[in-house]
Amino acid sequence: MSNANLNVDGENMEFPIVTGTEGERGIDLGKLRASTGLITLDQGFVNTGSCQSAITFIDGEKGILRYRGYRIEELAAKSSFLEVAYLLIRGELPTQAELDDFRNTITIHTMLHEDFRKFYGGFPKSAHPMAVVAATTSALATFYPDSLNLDAKNEVEICTKRLLAKLPTIAAYAYKHSIGQPFMYPVNEMGYAANFLRMMFATPCEEYEVDPVIAKALDLLLILHADHEQNCSTSTVRMVGSSRANLFASISAGVSALWGPLHGGANQAVIEMLQRIESEGITGKQYLDRVKDKQSGIRLMGFGHRVYKNFDPRARIIKQTCRDVLARLNQQTRLLDLAMELEEVALEDPYFVERRLYPNVDFYSGIIYQAIGIPVDMFTVLFSMGRLPGWIAHWTEMHRDGFRISRPRQIYTGATERSFVPIAER
Ligand code: CMC
Repeated sequence: MSNANLNVDGENMEFPIVTGTEGERGIDLGKLRASTGLITLDQGFVNTGSCQSAITFIDGEKGILRYRGYRIEELAAKSSFLEVAYLLIRGELPTQAELDDFRNTITIHTMLHEDFRKFYGGFPKSAHPMAVVAATTSALATFYPDSLNLDAKNEVEICTKRLLAKLPTIAAYAYKHSIGQPFMYPVNEMGYAANFLRMMFATPCEEYEVDPVIAKALDLLLILHADHEQNCSTSTVRMVGSSRANLFASISAGVSALWGPLHGGANQAVIEMLQRIESEGITGKQYLDRVKDKQSGIRLMGFGHRVYKNFDPRARIIKQTCRDVLARLNQQTRLLDLAMELEEVALEDPYFVERRLYPNVDFYSGIIYQAIGIPVDMFTVLFSMGRLPGWIAHWTEMHRDGFRISRPRQIYTGATERSFVPIAER
């Protein structure tokens, strides 16, 4: 094992270098403060590894993404969302019998307790569904108090299945409540994505048939979102879990972290941006001029990534799926055309080239969601359904491998000690 030397005030110290299976290297500074009194300061954790993990590998320079060693392109072409969920959480691809068993146990947990439905009545119809999903996911712990016992291994296993099974139901109910339609019970013989589509769009009054091409496209999107190592929401799930908070509470925190427009909320922001450009009747180039003007505070949503300094491989797959879905539905491609125009101009523009900004997973996904009738404020909810197995896999890995409570340090920059002044004298 090699070491890194740090010289502080003339004193030399050595810290071990840790190397991952793909050759990534990090300096283990675990003893830094104890031996020097110093801490590292790294805003946004740009250079900080918070853990070692065997779940997902990203090479941002080359645009590579692999779950448990399998290329995302291959999983997208050959796998299904539940198989990928199994892979992420359990570490290996399932046999047919294992997959059948996994799928069956998930499908028997899809229903929500009847009393649970009453929560929805308490939310205004205009509530953002991410708020509803975060709140109701956390509320699952009230119905399953056994889940609070993290030492019962079987309980964590059951919670995992409950979450995977119930999140689509929770999400679809949030939508149904917002439009005042009756909730549709899940149908357990249907596939994961198809069941969700039915709960979203069917009503008790008429037959509803799920288009298998659309269900497949949705399943694909769920696969592409299933994990992305230590992103903001996954780090949040780990951080909350590190206090030994239960799985429902940790996942609910992940949903909240995902909501922001710099993270999962970008898929909603992209469609809103495209619609704005369209309604203003400006060209892609004119919009990019606004983006490049730093005073405007506008970003090209769906572009740029902390890790990818090359094409996000998920964006390539989604772009192709987008074309297929629009063709299948015989829908206009104006937003897709506009997105492609923006991409083309941006990829030639020195501002984006120099900063190595490329389309990310959110750039084209919203166009597919919109084409299949998903309302804009549900986009990030679909992202959370996709990301769920990744969150669970990280939470489980952390608990299995051992952890300390996440507790960063700070450099204090506030007032030094001063005396309290009584209010009358201030
Ligand atoms: N449009 C315009 N300029 C950008 C963009 C963008 N989308 N992204 C980064 N930049 C500029 C930024 O202004 C900065 O310029 P300068 O060096 O002149 O100050 C430079 O590029 C580096 O940006 P940064 O904000 O320091 O990069 P970051 O790694 O902290 O942020 C990001 C990454 C994804 C938050 C950012 O690229 C962004 O805001 N993108 C738009 C929002 C988005 O699409 N988010 C989805 C991310 S992928 C899926 C997910 O995580 O959910």
